[in-house]
Amino acid sequence: MQIKIAPSILASDFSEVGQTVALLEQNGADMVHCDVMDGNFVPPITFGAQLVKNIRPHTRLPLDCHLMTLHPQTHIEDFAAAGADLISVHVEACGKQTGEVLRAIRALGVKAAAVVNPATPVSELFDWLGDVDMYLVMSVVPGWGGQKFIPESLKKLEELRSFCVKNGKPDVDIEVDGGVTEQNAHEIIAAGANVLVAGSTVFRSADMRGTIASLRRV
Ligand code: DX5
Ligand code: ZN
Repeated sequence: MQIKIAPSILASDFSEVGQTVALLEQNGADMVHCDVMDGNFVPPITFGAQLVKNIRPHTRLPLDCHLMTLHPQTHIEDFAAAGADLISVHVEACGKQTGEVLRAIRALGVKAAAVVNPATPVSELFDWLGDVDMYLVMSVVPGWGGQKFIPESLKKLEELRSFCVKNGKPDVDIEVDGGVTEQNAHEIIAAGANVLVAGSTVFRSADMRGTIASLRRV
């Protein structure tokens, strides 16, 4: 499967976000991961659809919007209008409405993803295989960049990839988010992920191009 690297702008300086996304594109990133936090679903507040709209003209890369918000369904139209290419919603925030929310995202012409937190089993994602373009497995507790990868996430990735294979959708994108480094990328990919979010690893690097290339190397 194609390995895609999605640097998270959470680790960057928001005052120069236009230049940042242009730089990511020049240095070989595949998507721009936008971490939207509402101060409720997770304690911090980051940014909303307005920032996504403002960065849209600065890159042709797909904008991968990870909504860490309560009631994500109330925000999806704004993100679609702002130019999001993919919107990820947490099963913990959507509850019984997860399927409905994913279908509403797709109805807006945007790719949809369902996300689980570290404490939620991946089986919570199984019902939505027909409604997603991507699954996202959180490998840290959401809310903050720079945390350590939770090793149990590898088993969750294996279980999820094997579920997709067994159910006739072996090529569904599986994204992993949190604590991805040049050291653990190999085992994360071997476990079944093909989309790697990396915040601190990319933005703390003195060689962004080299780091993105090395994350991709299997
Ligand atoms: C955590 C965010 C992540 C975060 C990853 O809530 O969803 O996308 O930016 O950061 P690193 O790569 O630094 O763990
Ligand atoms: Zn994220």
